[in-house]
Formats: sequence, structure tokens, C-alpha cells
Amino acid sequence: MMKKRNRGWIAAILAAVTVLAGCGAGSSSQQTAAETQVQTEAQTQTEATEQTEDQTEEETEGSAAGEDAAEETENSQEQAEKDGNGKALVVYYSATGNTEEAANMIAEAVGGDLFQLEPTEPYTDADLNWTDENSRVTVEHDNPDQRDVELVSTTVENWDDYDTVFIGYPIWWGIAAWPVDSFVENNDFTGKTVIPFCTSASSGIGESGQLLAEMAGTGDWLEGQRFRSGVSEEDVASWVEGLGL
Ligand SMILES: Cc1cc2nc3c(=O)[nH]c(=O)nc-3n(C[C@H](O)[C@H](O)[C@H](O)COP(=O)(O)O)c2cc1C
Repeated sequence: MMKKRNRGWIAAILAAVTVLAGCGAGSSSQQTAAETQVQTEAQTQTEATEQTEDQTEEETEGSAAGEDAAEETENSQEQAEKDGNGKALVVYYSATGNTEEAANMIAEAVGGDLFQLEPTEPYTDADLNWTDENSRVTVEHDNPDQRDVELVSTTVENWDDYDTVFIGYPIWWGIAAWPVDSFVENNDFTGKTVIPFCTSASSGIGESGQLLAEMAGTGDWLEGQRFRSGVSEEDVASWVEGLGL
């Protein structure tokens, strides 16, 4: 009888311990879930903050790189201008086509642009007859105050972009054909290298370039070059190469 009662007690105690142990396990698993949630939230927040920081850093680096690139372009442009590696322009007047041919060859050799000087009143063959004492050209030659030849245009688009300007003309009575005068007088050659060239029957370039330089009053004028009519492309190209532009 006594033994039976003891077994009942032991069973009751065991049952209580099991219940308590179960409760303990339950509360500890709840705690772990809460802790995990807090931990995950904290981690997510930290990751988000880190991502924002990374992004901000990348954006800052990106805009700094953009500024660097812009600065580099500006510097290389300035350097190119200093080095004289800018664009070249070939300005010319031609009454019968010889100077035009040379001008085209120079533009081809330097990879430059062309600008043709055109009198508003073009010279006819009769005008150019220098053996006629009454022809337009002879009258203008004999009366320097009548050499003011009006041109269709003396304004070159993007003039500031050119740092080398070739100026070509035929030789008339030993000097530059005067239709080029008003172009030279109406433009500012400051900071530009100016290279005169001419074509003629037999005369050299003589003082024609110096006279134009005096007329301009600005620019760094080189001595220049005379070409015979029908000059070859090779000869023009090798002269251009020798300029070391
Ligand atoms: C009015 C006039 C005057 C000229 N005077 C000279 C001269 O003094 N010396 C010379 O060698 N050629 C002279 N020439 C020849 C031209 O310079 C030569 O034919 C030149 O290549 C013409 O160039 P263009 O075809 O571009 O007009 C003269 C030609 C003309 C029309």
C-alpha cells in the first residue's frame, strides 16, 4: 500500500518537472526568435547604411572623374594652341586659276580649310590685260588710291580657331595682287602664324609678304614661298612638311 502511494508521488513530481522544462524550452525559443529578429533588423539597417555610404562615395568619385576629364580636355586644347597644333586656313585670291591650284594643294597637305577672296566686281580677261594702258588693272597699278578692291566677304567663320593662316595671291608688277589687301587690313592676326605664298610667271615672292605684314600690323609672318604655275602636288607637300607645323 505504502509503495503504491510513493510511486504516485514520483509520477506527479516527474510530470511537474516535464511541464516546467517544457515551459522553459518554450520561453527560450521565443527569446531566440525575438533576438534573431532584432539582429536581422540591425543587420539590414547596417547594410543599408553601408550601401548608401558606398553609393555616395561612388557618386563623389564619379563627379570628380567628370571634372578631371573636363579639365584635361581644356588643358589639351590650351596646349594644342600653345604648340601650334590648331587648325590651318588657306586664304587665297586667284584671277586665272594658278594660285587656286596651289591653294588647294596646300589645304590638302595641311588638312586645312579654304577661303577664297572674291572681288564683288570680278576681273575679266580685258580687265587683266596689263599690256593695255587703259585696262582696269593697269589703271589701278598706275593709281594706288584706286586699288581698294571691294570683296564679297572678308569675314572667316570661326576665325579664332585658326592658328596658322596661309595667304596666297598672284604677283602683279612684282607685288601681291591687291584684291588681298582688304582681307589683310580687315582681320586681326594676333597669335597667328601667317605664311604668304604666290604664283607668278617668273618673279620671286620678293617683298610682297613683308608689305602685307606691314599692312596687317599683327601676326607672326613667315617669309613665304613662290610657286610656278602647274607646280606638282609633291613639291607643295614637301614644302608644307618643311614648315614643321
Ligand atoms: C596684271 C598682271 C601683272 C602680272 N605681273 C607679273 C609680274 O610682275 N611678274 C611675274 O612673274 N608674273 C606676273 N604676272 C603673271 C601672274 O603672276 C601669273 O600668271 C600668276 O600665276 C597668275 O595667278 P592666277 O592664275 O592665280 O591669277 C602678271 C599677271 C597679270 C595679270
